[in-house]
Amino acid sequence: MANLTWLKKYNLLIFDEIDSTNSEALRLARVCRIGNFVVWARSQTSGRGRQGSVWESGRGNLFLSILLNENIPISKQPQMSFVTALAAFDLIYSLTRKASLSPDIKLKWPNDILVNGKKISGILLESLSFNDNTSLVVGIGVNVKTTPDNVNQAITSLADEGVSNVELEEVINNFILNFEKYCSIWQQSGFIEIRKLWLKKAAKLNEVISVDDGKDKITGIFKDIDFSGGIRLRAADGKIHSLPAGQVFFGDDNNE
Ligand code: BTN
Repeated sequence: MANLTWLKKYNLLIFDEIDSTNSEALRLARVCRIGNFVVWARSQTSGRGRQGSVWESGRGNLFLSILLNENIPISKQPQMSFVTALAAFDLIYSLTRKASLSPDIKLKWPNDILVNGKKISGILLESLSFNDNTSLVVGIGVNVKTTPDNVNQAITSLADEGVSNVELEEVINNFILNFEKYCSIWQQSGFIEIRKLWLKKAAKLNEVISVDDGKDKITGIFKDIDFSGGIRLRAADGKIHSLPAGQVFFGDDNNE
């Protein structure tokens, strides 16, 4: 029997189709500052990804946003994308294990989940501040049944990796239980523990990568992430670069 205890903490809103679950959660945040919400849509007409990209949102995949009306300080909000990525990692891990598969699952900074080197899930954090209150929206998309095309990078889906017959309700339940687990680790032990767990699953740690921070493209060895969630690279001249945001390029493929 499914463990649905998270429904005590979150109000669940389900849409057959919506523009974007993140947009709906932000609209909700404007009118309701009390309680947490999970917004789920079976399809989105204007799904969006990081840096203004389009998130293809046809039926069969997961489109979910969590609205946290918990006044998480703005400086700590980026940490939530690592909390979410760990929850998504465990989701993919358990679904693949259940199908007797053991693919290579990795986390790509700042917030992508890769299976066998291809992106299967992405996370988009957005926030709304009003007077002293801040609401955080954590949006996640997981390619469950279909692998969108027209995407300029290597992507995959659970179905393409051999995991079929997955019910989206099961995916949501599994993901939110994981999310709750990592939120309590974050609350109890802080980002230091989340960072440690995330680094264990990081793609290309101690390998050469490039990061485009919008101004420059810096190449170096991926050393770790700092306590604000920024990526730290050691360039060939030995200099350490701490970059708060940007796009990672692996060099051996077309991933961002
Ligand atoms: C990315 O990797 O670029 C982030 C993708 C985030 C997509 C999800 S789908 C649910 C939520 N609603 C949106 O419009 N975007 C996020």
